[in-house]
Amino acid sequence: MADKPAIPHLLSLQDLSEQEVDDLLDLSVRIKRRAGAFQLAGRTVGLLFFRPSLRTRASFEAAVHQLGGQTIHLTASSDFWELESAEGAVMDGRAPEHVKDAARVLSRYVSALAIRPALTGQSWAADRRDASIRAWAAFALVPVINMESALWHPLQALADIMTLRETLGDLRGKTLSVVWTHSPQPASHSVVHSLLLASLRAGMRVRVAHPSGYELDEQVLSEARAVADKKGGALETGLAAKEAVRGAHVVYARSWSSLEDYANPTLAASRRARTQGWTVDENLLKLGSDARLMHAGPVRRNLEVTDEVLDGPRSLVYEQAENRLHSQKALLARLLRA
Ligand code: CP
Repeated sequence: MADKPAIPHLLSLQDLSEQEVDDLLDLSVRIKRRAGAFQLAGRTVGLLFFRPSLRTRASFEAAVHQLGGQTIHLTASSDFWELESAEGAVMDGRAPEHVKDAARVLSRYVSALAIRPALTGQSWAADRRDASIRAWAAFALVPVINMESALWHPLQALADIMTLRETLGDLRGKTLSVVWTHSPQPASHSVVHSLLLASLRAGMRVRVAHPSGYELDEQVLSEARAVADKKGGALETGLAAKEAVRGAHVVYARSWSSLEDYANPTLAASRRARTQGWTVDENLLKLGSDARLMHAGPVRRNLEVTDEVLDGPRSLVYEQAENRLHSQKALLARLLRA
């Protein structure tokens, strides 16, 4: 295949320089104040979902439509063929179409492809490679935007940093506490991975609380520690919830699965049953420094976070969800401004 021109994909937030992220966030704020002039009239954005979504789908569609563009929304299993992704595969199995053909065909119709890829759930070593979103990016002739892979959720991180900046101003030296929460169906690791990198790049001090056995991806942590060293921040992991929240400015609640039991639902359920008390409530939040509460959603009320905290004055969850809209408009402006 001939070399294709460089296309500005967004697979993780680290695809953008710190200056580019700052510029995007400034533009997000201007757009929120109705000062953004960018328009998408006559442009179409393809949205492909291999997993469910509420916020990402609705905010992305709303962003494109409010900018005057259109979306084509396609859900795997009902709207398009099962896809093969192995290079050189003899396609005598279930999948009648290869991702390289789907990507090249859709690139003839749309100005960008936003994709929430499937996770196999069979092996973390395999899923963490984000092979599916990378295959789309390799073959598409338009920008590919990651709407949450196994490893990264750059759109959530953009909105999260926007919300943190709106709330705390300059983030340097401020403390973010990420607290693992209980859930019978834990969320993916992507939100926390992207949040760690983005907040440390902004100069925050980050503390992660989780039970033993719920350590985050070691390579992501190693990258995050390097960023913390470079930016003069700090990263502590494996803390107890109270230890992590004491003096923190923001408490970010999130469930995630144990990577040790990634492919074994029985062991994972048994491990979860042995963890108790990981709910963010008023007593925990009070340990912070006038701490605010963030959660990317969907949130399990009174299991992950109590009603009192979610519905109380220190919750930022709806502001955070709204900022998905503004920051995605800014991202579209950056990727499609030509
Ligand atoms: N936070 C987030 O991505 O929400 P959805 O899974 O509902 O899109």
